[in-house]
Amino acid sequence: MVGSYKQLLTKARRGGYAVGGFNINNLEIAQAVVRGAQECQSPVILQTSEGAVAYAGAHYLAAIAWTARHDADVPVVFHLDHGKDVDLVRWAITSGLYDSVMFDGSHLPFLENIKVTRQIVKLAHKRNVHVEAELGAIPGKEDLVEVSNQDAFFTDPDQAAEFVTKTGCDSLAVSVGTAHGAYKDKGIAGSVDMKRLAAIAEAVSIPLVLHGASAVNRSVVTRLGKTAAKLGGKGLVGAHGISAAQRKKAITHGVAKMNFDTDLRLAFTAELHKTILKNPDQFDPRKLLGPSRDAIQKTVVKTIGALGSSGKA
Ligand code: G3H
Ligand code: 13P
Ligand code: ZN
Repeated sequence: MVGSYKQLLTKARRGGYAVGGFNINNLEIAQAVVRGAQECQSPVILQTSEGAVAYAGAHYLAAIAWTARHDADVPVVFHLDHGKDVDLVRWAITSGLYDSVMFDGSHLPFLENIKVTRQIVKLAHKRNVHVEAELGAIPGKEDLVEVSNQDAFFTDPDQAAEFVTKTGCDSLAVSVGTAHGAYKDKGIAGSVDMKRLAAIAEAVSIPLVLHGASAVNRSVVTRLGKTAAKLGGKGLVGAHGISAAQRKKAITHGVAKMNFDTDLRLAFTAELHKTILKNPDQFDPRKLLGPSRDAIQKTVVKTIGALGSSGKA
């Protein structure tokens, strides 16, 4: 699959659009993502985090992804997201379940990241598996990046060129100001550093990947806040995501894949709250989860529209 998936992303970078990498954790989320991609006639990447693998099991999730691929008339890629555990990444490659793996060595010193990524790439390419690598750390849900130390986190364009040449990775996740989760600007120096992204794109010709790309749409956050309050919760005060304009601009600077998880979680849960509040006696899981699946599908359609990959299947 390294060939065709690589071509898919290379075509996206050349064509000025990005393909969505959507995190899946269960059947409903996977179906919603694939249905959304079908509706848009767009290629799509279904990805599982280490947490998703621990929650549902790689075989269950792979079976869902493989079934989706069989049913769908759009390209469906199955990818391991943020593989930090080298043994898990090696297993994902040799299991034959994954088309692509991300080895996330962003916590390692530069030379060590090169060394381990290179080893992973060698193993993966023998099996025709694509490797997304990461240089520069993308802050997590709780990490704070202060203006004064952002250089320690952000990807350096010169290092990126050396990293890609020495590792042979197929795509590169970069740290340019986004963060995972619903609080993307919490303590962080603004939003996407376009100047840095442009310099990386100049130095590196492989497809770039933007993590933490969720929009964290204000209307969903407001709806969720209202239903959460009715259920006794507090809502997501001050949640903030990436604007459509920033995504568009990022695509002009070599980004060919963007990752989304938070937006799917928000859509799912806002709808689930609503369903439960409307039907407090309902106990059929299908009646509770079906509307949430539809809500994710709508979010995926909107997201794919913003990435410009509609009709690119
Ligand atoms: O990269 C972050 C994704 O949102 C995965 O999150 O580790 O909770 O599955 P997770
Ligand atoms: P969000 O938290 O912005 O959805 O990012 C998800 C992600 O980058 C998964 O790898
Ligand atoms: Zn990520």
